[in-house]
Amino acid sequence: MKIAISSDHGGNRLRKEIIDLLTERGVEFEDFGPKNDDSVDYPDYATPVCEGVVEGRFNRGILICGTGIGMSIAANKTKGIRCALVHDVFSAKATRGHNDTNVLAMGERVVGAGHAREIVSAWLDTSFEGGRHAVRVEKLMMLED
Ligand code: RB5
Repeated sequence: MKIAISSDHGGNRLRKEIIDLLTERGVEFEDFGPKNDDSVDYPDYATPVCEGVVEGRFNRGILICGTGIGMSIAANKTKGIRCALVHDVFSAKATRGHNDTNVLAMGERVVGAGHAREIVSAWLDTSFEGGRHAVRVEKLMMLED
């Protein structure tokens, strides 16, 4: 499992917390920044992560901004990305099991660090259930064409 992760300035602190979590869990990752707290535009940081996932250099991506909304909208513009904005553990499990999401978005201004860690752990640990959900995901991806 190799993860690509980035944020904008609004998600810097939570990104570092999640990087700590990935390190603790022994999950390989690449940090796409930003490198400081300067104000940046979230699409500029979402796209490299999403392209890395679509190109197969990473298994999944994690994107963080203030709300997670901008990052999730940006991520879903990249063909092949299924990004969910998640702020609870139930949805984290469901969106892996049912939607086979390959990118997770969260908002630093929405969720506490401890809860975010549980969300990411649940999202990493849950497998896609396939079956009827595979049919739906296939139909979802056909909407891109
Ligand atoms: C930045 O202030 C903020 O707009 C951004 O982090 C994000 O919440 C956008 O959706």
